[in-house]
Amino acid sequence: MNSSFTLWRNFRVATFDETRDADWGWIESAAMLIRDADGVIEWIGESENAINLPKPSNDIDLGGALVTPSLIDCHTHLVYAGSRAREFEMRLEGASYEDIARAGGGIRSTVAATRAASDETLFVLARERALALMREGVATIEIKSGYGLTEIDEARTLCIARRVGETLGLDVKTTYLAAHALPDEFVGRADDYIDLVCEWMPRLHAEKLIDAVDAFCERIGFTPEQTRRVFECAKSLGIPVKLHAEQLSDQGGAARASEFNALSCDHLEHLSDEGIAAMASAGVTAVLLPGAYYFLRETRLPPVEKLRVAGIPIALATDHNPGSSPTLSPLLMMNMACTLFRMTPLEAWKGFTTNAARALGLHATHGTLKTGRKANFAVWNADHPRELAYSFGQTPVKSLVVNGQRREDIVQ
Ligand code: NIG
Ligand code: FE
Repeated sequence: MNSSFTLWRNFRVATFDETRDADWGWIESAAMLIRDADGVIEWIGESENAINLPKPSNDIDLGGALVTPSLIDCHTHLVYAGSRAREFEMRLEGASYEDIARAGGGIRSTVAATRAASDETLFVLARERALALMREGVATIEIKSGYGLTEIDEARTLCIARRVGETLGLDVKTTYLAAHALPDEFVGRADDYIDLVCEWMPRLHAEKLIDAVDAFCERIGFTPEQTRRVFECAKSLGIPVKLHAEQLSDQGGAARASEFNALSCDHLEHLSDEGIAAMASAGVTAVLLPGAYYFLRETRLPPVEKLRVAGIPIALATDHNPGSSPTLSPLLMMNMACTLFRMTPLEAWKGFTTNAARALGLHATHGTLKTGRKANFAVWNADHPRELAYSFGQTPVKSLVVNGQRREDIVQ
């Protein structure tokens, strides 16, 4: 095997390697050797211990800069067309998110715009959004379908998500969210629509378009019983599940998802004690979405302290979508998680690294800088990662490295 190596040296790093320490996994004066063939970390540690390592063919001096794992955005709806700026105005004039959805706006208006857009338009829009995330240090993105709601349009969305990952050279995990909203043509026939969601799933899975299955379990979405049917179908195909749960009301969705050992339950402002207990015993990750909390002017906080006490890993994500979270800034989400949810900067960082990896089932390869893990990391203009959770509205990324390759095309 051709084993050439690149040595990166002279940097300070938060590795999030818990075998180093339970906090930042800090190394003050670090070096890292990367196997060029597959972009995997061969060794990382204190510079002074970088002895008896294979001889590198490249040697990169980072001049004392700060390094962290690249960020993982574990919940996005990146593929869609149209804007919901008018709906934003309506909400400011007094209409609620649920009122607008019931009147046929909301998700369904994005469905109409998405169905009407060409593949190329959808691809260009989604690619631009993914690039914006990369410019803030993201190298792994989960992308949900859910604005197509026909077999063809869901397939189109998932194909475009895959194409975004391939053309940008980043890891994209696709999630099938056909149970996102009831399409106009099925009003009054939700169970018939769920039959179709379950009929399309094996076909799209056979085309390798689905990494996980999600649903919107809510008064304006689907019931826990309809969610169960979607999850039974996923289970029969061996696909992991996750759930938009307890965002606007407590539907018992988290407990339902836990019965299926979900990878994650997301949103969770209205999560009950029973839901917490179910998630803890099934090892489900909580994904909190401060952008949606903020943008919908939600006042009920997710139960962060109870999640901590229960030992549930907490991830964060942008939830980028046109209706409830039109942001492409993971760093702003970290800041909001601290100011609005009273999470610590360390928790916010774990939320976009190790715990986001858990929410995608990627914990064995992503989110931590240690031997055998992917060499996906960001180099920052800052002294410590806590500074990046503290300031907001700035983009201090110096470089993004994906699979050991410096992405000069993304960040200079
Ligand atoms: O995660 N809650 C459901 N889905 C999205 C919102 C989608 C939309 O409004 O277009 C969310 O908040
Ligand atoms: Fe969402």
